[in-house]
Amino acid sequence: MSLRLNLPALMLAAISLAAGAQTNAILIGTVNSSLSLFVGRDGRLYQRGYGRSAPEAAMPAKDPARETEFYPQFGDGFILEPALQATHGDGNTSTDLEYVRHTTTTLDDDTTLTRIELKDKFYPFFVTLCFKACQKEDVIEQWAEIRHVERGPVTLWRFASSAPVFRAKQYWLTQFHGDWADEAQMLEERLTPGLKVLDSKLGVRASRFRTPSFILSLNKPAAEKTGETYGGSLAWSGSFQLAFEVDWDNRLRALAGINPFDSQYRLQRGQVFSTPAMLWTWSDHGEGQVSRNFHHWAMLHGLRDGAQPRPVLLNNWEATYFDFNENKLVSLLDGARDLGVELFLLDDGWFGNQYPRNDDRAGLGDWQVNTNKLPRGLSFLAGQARQRGLRFGIWLEPEMVNPASALYHRHPEWAVGQLHREPETSRHQLDLDLTRPAVKEFAWNVVAGTLGPNPDITYLKWDANRYITQPGSTWLQPEEQSRLWIDYTLALYHNMARLKQNFPNVTAMLCSGGGGRADYGALKYFHCFWPSDNTDPARRVFIQWGFSHFFPACALCNHVTRSGHRPVKFALDVAMSGDLGFDVDLAKTSPADRAAMAQAITLYKDELRAIVQQGDLYRLESPYDGPRACLDYVTPDRSKAVLFVYQLKDGEAGSVKPRGLDPARKYQVRELNLPAGAVSTMAENGETADGAALMKDGIQPSCRQANQSAVIEFH
Ligand code: GLA
Repeated sequence: MSLRLNLPALMLAAISLAAGAQTNAILIGTVNSSLSLFVGRDGRLYQRGYGRSAPEAAMPAKDPARETEFYPQFGDGFILEPALQATHGDGNTSTDLEYVRHTTTTLDDDTTLTRIELKDKFYPFFVTLCFKACQKEDVIEQWAEIRHVERGPVTLWRFASSAPVFRAKQYWLTQFHGDWADEAQMLEERLTPGLKVLDSKLGVRASRFRTPSFILSLNKPAAEKTGETYGGSLAWSGSFQLAFEVDWDNRLRALAGINPFDSQYRLQRGQVFSTPAMLWTWSDHGEGQVSRNFHHWAMLHGLRDGAQPRPVLLNNWEATYFDFNENKLVSLLDGARDLGVELFLLDDGWFGNQYPRNDDRAGLGDWQVNTNKLPRGLSFLAGQARQRGLRFGIWLEPEMVNPASALYHRHPEWAVGQLHREPETSRHQLDLDLTRPAVKEFAWNVVAGTLGPNPDITYLKWDANRYITQPGSTWLQPEEQSRLWIDYTLALYHNMARLKQNFPNVTAMLCSGGGGRADYGALKYFHCFWPSDNTDPARRVFIQWGFSHFFPACALCNHVTRSGHRPVKFALDVAMSGDLGFDVDLAKTSPADRAAMAQAITLYKDELRAIVQQGDLYRLESPYDGPRACLDYVTPDRSKAVLFVYQLKDGEAGSVKPRGLDPARKYQVRELNLPAGAVSTMAENGETADGAALMKDGIQPSCRQANQSAVIEFH
């Protein structure tokens, strides 16, 4: 009560007490960027700017426009897309937040946490805006914590994680869209007045048709090396909304968060609703630096064990699909050992007895080893792998059920679906309703029950092959059905966190029919993800290019397959620019191709892996702009670099200019991964030149025709 009565006085006291807040300004800074906020005379929180580092500045003499309010709320004067909309216990649909206090604490030598507390002027309704500023990486993570102590529940309708305002002449937005097997395709457009929404309404995964990440360039289309550029990525694996609104005064607001679509959330007194984090980074050196910022951040903060080398693996999926038995797998293990891979990954099809998983129509939910295919079980196979010096991994899809399964017959009510509607299957399966505690435990036991008894299994591929189309839960109350979208993802994260905590030595690959879970919400529990089921290297160049804007090479699993029937060298060179793996039946592979694979694996393990997985990426020539794609990776100390050239169409394309080298240092140039017996025809092969000359004059790779490629080392 006293809060309500004495708020203005309390507020002033808090402003003067707040750490470092001698003025009414709040600065959230990283090495090169800052987000500058201030408290207006009306007590509201406004944004001054976000971009190049600026000193803390006092409140402007003129009252700020409401349109620059930093986290605007619906219903009391703000007329554009709000960050927050709530219906209070008494039915009032407006919220009016004012500043109470803020604190900044140092979490470690790279990270500060700023918490800005806001309170409604009338209701005991509180929002804390949180900012983790990662200094060296120039990344700011922002999220909101919402709670209240009103008498009845409050309904939240909108709850953005972040909603900064931009001021420029023009705004250029790049989205990463597509479909299954065609993920992360880049499309740029100029924003015009009005609202542009990029979203998904899929529930169990963030994306199928677009990813929750974007690039925003000011005043001109995004460029690799120049221009004021922002990168945004929402750390959420469920439905998302990215909304860009240009107003009458040509200001842009970018709202990012859980999709409010059908997601109203009844918040009980005392309960805290935490939005997912929105990751922002800024650079005035174009989208290349934006990507490197994300990569540095991911390796330090965003991924599991960012510095740990990712293993070279052989996956049996495209080699066998569901058609395998113990003998076949053991023969694949032999081939894997001979090739020099480090891990064997057993994919879909190893489980189900009453409803054997012999195709995608049956078995999901029945996670017992199929005794016909694998009479001696997983531990036997994992032991066979160990005897051959290989690690062993397993595929799981813990959240799914086929109607043709013993689980579904026992518990049809465990599936997500709508009462009185025919269940709509996709890939013949349904989603399990993780909001039901028993289902969440079941799904966790799928993971724990597979890994726990088999300590030789040290790798997990966690898949999810459909999304929600009938969002109903037999567990949630009728008036709480819309919680499904949010509580599903929270339950999923709980299980993923248990994986990380209980199985710290298990390397984990995130998969969702390809790139459906390419988001930093889930990736913090994983080492890497499967970007696409499309493994044709010529298409893969585009997919990898798109994802590289937000995710470092060590997060992208790239497998060599026979898809597209490209030359094996091309397939190898494309896969080696991320985490190299294989999805091939070695028995059906020619001796020459096997030899090429073995040679590439040795090269990757001995020389390239460290440069690619830990190096800085420079995108040199875009596959969207010309006949080829070129990129290089440079070690942090700039002593080594590796350049990849992928010729996608026939035609001369001139010299390639590497970037990121030390201009003053001398490098020897060497073409690698040549076919056995071949000699490089590149004029610069074997020469030594300084970094400045190499970056200025470039080198002339010998690729001229589609499906040719080159790997060139600077040492
Ligand atoms: C998904 C994955 C594939 C494979 C299959 C198995 O499509 O993306 O890599 O694991 O499921 O059914």
